[in-house]
Amino acid sequence: MTDPGLPGRLRAAVGEAGLVTDPARMGGYLSDWRNAYSGTAAAVVRPVSTDEVAAIVRACRKEGVAVVPQGGNTGLCGGAVPDTSGRQVVLSLDRMRRLRAVDPVNQTITVEAGVVLQAVQEAAAAEGCLFPLSLGSEGSCTIGGNLSTNAGGTGVLRYGTMRDLTLGLEVVLPDGRIWNGLRGLRKDNTGYDLKHLFIGAEGTLGLVTAAVLKLFPAVRSRATAWVAVGSAQAAVDLFGIVRALCGDRLTAFEIMSRQSVDFVLRHGTGARDLFGSVHFWYVLVELSDTLPDARLDGLLEAALAEAFDRDVAGDAVVASGSAQVAALWALREGISEAQNFEGPSLKHDVTVPISSIPAFVERTDKALRAALPGIRIVTYGHIGDGNLHYNLSKPVDSDDDTFRNLAEELARMVYDATSSFGGSISAEHGLGQSKRDVIADYKDGLELELMRSLKHLLDPRGLMNPGKVLPAW
Ligand code: FAD
Ligand code: MLT
Ligand code: ZN
Repeated sequence: MTDPGLPGRLRAAVGEAGLVTDPARMGGYLSDWRNAYSGTAAAVVRPVSTDEVAAIVRACRKEGVAVVPQGGNTGLCGGAVPDTSGRQVVLSLDRMRRLRAVDPVNQTITVEAGVVLQAVQEAAAAEGCLFPLSLGSEGSCTIGGNLSTNAGGTGVLRYGTMRDLTLGLEVVLPDGRIWNGLRGLRKDNTGYDLKHLFIGAEGTLGLVTAAVLKLFPAVRSRATAWVAVGSAQAAVDLFGIVRALCGDRLTAFEIMSRQSVDFVLRHGTGARDLFGSVHFWYVLVELSDTLPDARLDGLLEAALAEAFDRDVAGDAVVASGSAQVAALWALREGISEAQNFEGPSLKHDVTVPISSIPAFVERTDKALRAALPGIRIVTYGHIGDGNLHYNLSKPVDSDDDTFRNLAEELARMVYDATSSFGGSISAEHGLGQSKRDVIADYKDGLELELMRSLKHLLDPRGLMNPGKVLPAW
């Protein structure tokens, strides 16, 4: 019998419906959301079951062909995109969309990797529960991608990252074996907690095919405020006031610089400035509670009153009604997209200790403005987690190439500043290919060595998403 070769093996694994070999139909699978990275592929395969995923992995292993896992392809580090060799196979989980089980008493939901985040939020709500992961990309990103990037978003302050929201995983290992770790137990002290190897591994240690996720009691009351403050220090002080008074009712605390807001006002749809005068910084504060009449507006107003007494807040409004709440969140979530209209930009996703945020902002802003006068610094993000999206847009009057040629130098300045405050150069987006090389200068050598040993143990032939996360060794 003639050897079927890779196409034959893949066709045997997923049938015609799950196999794309025509380059003209591969389009969206080959470049990332920002169009910052693009590649070519020998094939795109779209399995509908864990067994099909395992069959694909075995087929590719037999042919010595690398597999690039892909979910919603909203990642911001080029992690889900193949290289330009044309030899890699993109394995998209976008057809694995079953909600396998919901257990409201155990407060768990079991979903397949290709389920879109928004669908999990809706399934939880239908059971009178909450699945709290919330990202601007929730309409497209998938649970498999959320797990593989250990996604954060706006609810980390109260509920943690994807790592904290996960109880069990099903994973196809690089050798094609299926690990069924789909346990919905909150306690299981029987050795190493293996799921944590695959959460945040960005597809380099195996393919997540399903997960058991935690559910929480539904939120029945919310209060949201838009607050103007004069500095990053004032924002941190405001965080301290609100957190001390409201405790775990504080579920989101998002900072935005005036530059960020200006971009959304300019490019967003229907966005408007709530205050008459311009302020340097804004904070979106949200409280929530399971009590239907928790009178959170009053609690938020008390916190704001204290902020005014201590001269921390410059102006504030507590949103009245869901339309105004939605408009405030649109202002926040619109920044990422709005920045794309302003020419080439450099995205950073850093964490520093919350107490270091003011000094980090002051020192790094000053250094960048000296290095490139006119640079536009777009600072926003999840300040309650110490996580700033510290993005840079080119000066209005400079040409794109001048800015692009300075990109590496400017990024280094941001990363060096982050590291000087004991921070991390990737808070929630991961390393992918964009930070794969630079991480070697910011991560402890022993940690990199242990990561490489784990990679070698699980994927000795380096066929699982090569070129991502780990610097070439
Ligand atoms: P993909 O982009 O498809 O893949 C991401 C990585 O995971 C790749 O390395 C891929 O190989 C791997 N992967 C995907 N599926 C699997 C699988 N089943 N098994 C193994 N590996 C897999 N991120 C945040 O953390 N917080 C935010 O607030 C946030 N907001 C965003 C807003 C916008 C507008 C956009 C465009 C992105 C945002 N992101 C945010 C980034 C992105 O949405 C997240 O990283 C998300 O978790 C990626 O999910 P995905 O399904 O699109 O993954
Ligand atoms: C966000 O918080 O908006 C996301 O992480 C995406 C981004 O930083 O652009
Ligand atoms: Zn973010």
